[in-house]
Amino acid sequence: MDQQFAKDIVEGLSTAKKRLSSKYFYDAAGSKIFQEIMNMPEYYLTDSEFEILSLQGKQIIEAVQFKEPFNIIELGAGDGFKTFKLLEYLVHAKIDFHYVPIDISQGAMDSLLEKLHQKLPNLSIHPRVGDYFEILNTENINTDIPSLLLFLGSNIGNYGNLDAIGLLQHFGAGMKKNDKLLMGVDLMKNPRTIQYAYDDRHGITKRFNINLLLRINRELEGDFKVDDFDFYCHYNPITGEVRSYLISLRKQTVHLKKIGKSFNFDYNELIWTELSKKYALEEIENLAENSGFKVEKHFLDCKHHFTDTLLIK
Ligand code: AVI
Repeated sequence: MDQQFAKDIVEGLSTAKKRLSSKYFYDAAGSKIFQEIMNMPEYYLTDSEFEILSLQGKQIIEAVQFKEPFNIIELGAGDGFKTFKLLEYLVHAKIDFHYVPIDISQGAMDSLLEKLHQKLPNLSIHPRVGDYFEILNTENINTDIPSLLLFLGSNIGNYGNLDAIGLLQHFGAGMKKNDKLLMGVDLMKNPRTIQYAYDDRHGITKRFNINLLLRINRELEGDFKVDDFDFYCHYNPITGEVRSYLISLRKQTVHLKKIGKSFNFDYNELIWTELSKKYALEEIENLAENSGFKVEKHFLDCKHHFTDTLLIK
């Protein structure tokens, strides 16, 4: 049993305002559902970032101003689809660099490597499976080659302000003086566009959330009846926060056999599952400053929905 998972689930279900962390969405089934989300036309984030990296790769690399060779280290590479266009540009331009994808999942890494070997046979790849802080702190710090870190997909949006600062400081600690960080951030925009992306009419995001209950059932021998829970999410255009919840549709008790604990849910009780923060450009600048970084340049898509922001230490 994953002790940390069990501890976090128990803690989250024991507080007055119940909470389950979205970081646990990504088991094998959850990662597949996330792929489906990224393919939904309503989930504009994927297309926006794809456009930036497809059309502005050259400008990004020029702004980075590294002497060759350099590393491109992708934190949480997943299946690497977003990055593909940037890598393709670099390979075709015969720029001397090494691509270092880091991911915790061996499965995601295997499928990424297979695709890259096929499509970009000349790409120099140094894949690393594991925790990205560990790899930054051991390997990146000890090389003379400058590194551009990629933290894409608006993953930063799933962290509250203090946690986001902590995460960026942690990245900073694993970066050499002249290393740079390209961070994908979803921007505030017409609230309806954001609402449609998360409250999708096909119910895929609902399944993504409900899957966490199935994961708890599987890993902690729980007896969550998933039909007794619904999904709700809400975008607040003032704070820029999408907050997602599961709702208990009746008064019920759920037992987690593996850890011998039961949890009571009231009729209509909420479990907060996810924060997806949308930023204004000034907020990104503040976040950078509070974490020991400076914004060098924002690269926006044509609709100004999303930015890949280049940060320097
Ligand atoms: C991974 N992360 C940036 C996604 C997001 O948009 O917050 C996860 C997600 N949740 C619902 N849809 C997608």
